[in-house]
Amino acid sequence: MKRGSKLAQYEGVSASVIKRLPRYYRFLRGLIEKDIHRISSKELAKLMDLTASQIRQDLNCFGGFGQQGYGYNVNALYQQIAKILGIDKSIKTILIGAGNLGLAIANHVHFENIGFHLSGIFDVNPNVVGQNIKGIRVSHVSSLSEFCEKNKPQVAILCIPRETAQEITNNLVDLGIKGFWNFSHFDIKVHHDDVIVENVHLGDSLMTLCFGIHQLNGDTEDKQG
Ligand code: NAI
Repeated sequence: MKRGSKLAQYEGVSASVIKRLPRYYRFLRGLIEKDIHRISSKELAKLMDLTASQIRQDLNCFGGFGQQGYGYNVNALYQQIAKILGIDKSIKTILIGAGNLGLAIANHVHFENIGFHLSGIFDVNPNVVGQNIKGIRVSHVSSLSEFCEKNKPQVAILCIPRETAQEITNNLVDLGIKGFWNFSHFDIKVHHDDVIVENVHLGDSLMTLCFGIHQLNGDTEDKQG
């Protein structure tokens, strides 16, 4: 990972702890919606199917936040986690590829609630360019350079076919993109080790479910030979 000041501040914290923070954030939001403003680590653990000591350990990485005999102030913890993740700020983001997936992401991800601002959408298809998606006019990729120079987006979401991903990624890295939310099945890290990449493969999650179902069914592997 590149070292921005935020990342440097939490440099020693393991990736698995960081990956759990959005889940804490989600559960805390659920509590706030139910008007619950105080919770013990034991109660939170039960709710999240974790142990109280795991929660204390995780949150201690950032300074604690709980009080002996009181538990956690839900609102305060929610705000703290937002701050740690940086979602109280807004990262300028562009979407490349406004096909089926790109359209679904643009329309259904609540970027503004989780620290991002979708500021540009790009495609090559003349039937798509010029369309309006969530108030953003889809531009042709040929205008990427001018757009990036002017707006300085830091993150790109890739919803383009794998075959086109290498060229566009090289271009985006040259234009200053630091982070990719990559749906394209193209291995960005192999080609650019100095950017942050979150790969999303919906199929991976489904294959894990596949394994679980076969375990439940007691299916056995076919033995050959
Ligand atoms: P799609 O064909 O509906 O959309 C792709 C869009 O990318 C089209 O609008 C096309 O004009 C545009 N495009 C192609 N080359 C481009 C370029 N150089 N610059 C800008 N735009 C360009 O395809 P769909 O279904 O939206 O899937 C997009 C990609 O996402 C595919 O690679 C697919 O395999 C992948 N995918 C990944 C999933 C995951 O879990 N990671 C799930 C579903 C799809």
